[in-house]
Amino acid sequence: MSPSSAGRAAEPILRIEGLTKRFGGLTAVDRVTLAFAPRRLHAIIGPNGAGKTTLFNLISGFLPSDEGRVFFAGQEISRLRPHRISRLGISRTLQVKSVFQQLTVSENLWITAQAKRGVMNPFRSTSSYRDTCEKVERVLEQLELTRLADRQAGTLSYGDVALLEIGMAIAADPRLLLLDEPICGMSPAETERTVVKIRELAQTIDIVIIEHDMEVVFEIADDITVMAQGAILASGSPKEIAANEEVREAYLGRPEDEDYTEEPARA
Ligand SMILES: Nc1ncnc2c1ncn2[C@@H]1O[C@H](COP(=O)(O)OP(=O)(O)OP(=O)(O)O)[C@@H](O)[C@H]1O
Ligand SMILES: [Mg+2]
Repeated sequence: MSPSSAGRAAEPILRIEGLTKRFGGLTAVDRVTLAFAPRRLHAIIGPNGAGKTTLFNLISGFLPSDEGRVFFAGQEISRLRPHRISRLGISRTLQVKSVFQQLTVSENLWITAQAKRGVMNPFRSTSSYRDTCEKVERVLEQLELTRLADRQAGTLSYGDVALLEIGMAIAADPRLLLLDEPICGMSPAETERTVVKIRELAQTIDIVIIEHDMEVVFEIADDITVMAQGAILASGSPKEIAANEEVREAYLGRPEDEDYTEEPARA
């Protein structure tokens, strides 16, 4: 960010400098430098294998980086463990949905709502117990899951599981929420419901979303970053990204590419 633009822009909620991750000979994340302004909904898009999930893994401490640094609200979090990063205020959902199937919806939310407070803390008071109850109630209402509070998570529809997973992430009271393909595999109705919720959440929590559904991305994102082969291909407003020739090629392929799918004009 240039000094002149820094004057009007707030401190980035997340700043990444030269982040790199290699798996053997493969550079999955390649010197990524990015700054996410607060109070904006950011989308990260890119073809399969572009390094999007790996980038989330590095930010949230699930994987150690080989090079580079990550700052959250100005504080360096590069070498911190996942639970420390989570306690500082970054929550994430996983690309493969993961809730506790045997537990009820409420119980699932309890786990993350309590984790922030420290389950093992012997000085935890009745009031903190009450706070957790209220938090769970609030998240149930926020995501319109109250009617399913006592249902076993394993019996939920796919869309409700996805909402529960988002609920578990926000029950930890994050300032920043990382969503990895939250609507993947949903029906159109489920997608619509989830998109509305994500939009509502974005009013109070900073969100970075990885998503393949371009219609959704262009509908909800304030800023879009495009990754390809581990690196940043482009970053900008939805309008700028839609007009970017390189991005169109990365997604649609050129007409001479083998897998270009447009029907030939001949009869
Ligand atoms: N733990 C790992 N070990 C080895 N290679 C990995 C590992 N995790 C990811 N990769 C590789 O790194 C590259 C980036 O993977 P990543 O999952 O970050 O891509 P992605 O952009 O999230 O893709 P998708 O859209 O399919 O989810 C891929 O080539 C992948 O096979
Ligand atoms: Mg991924």
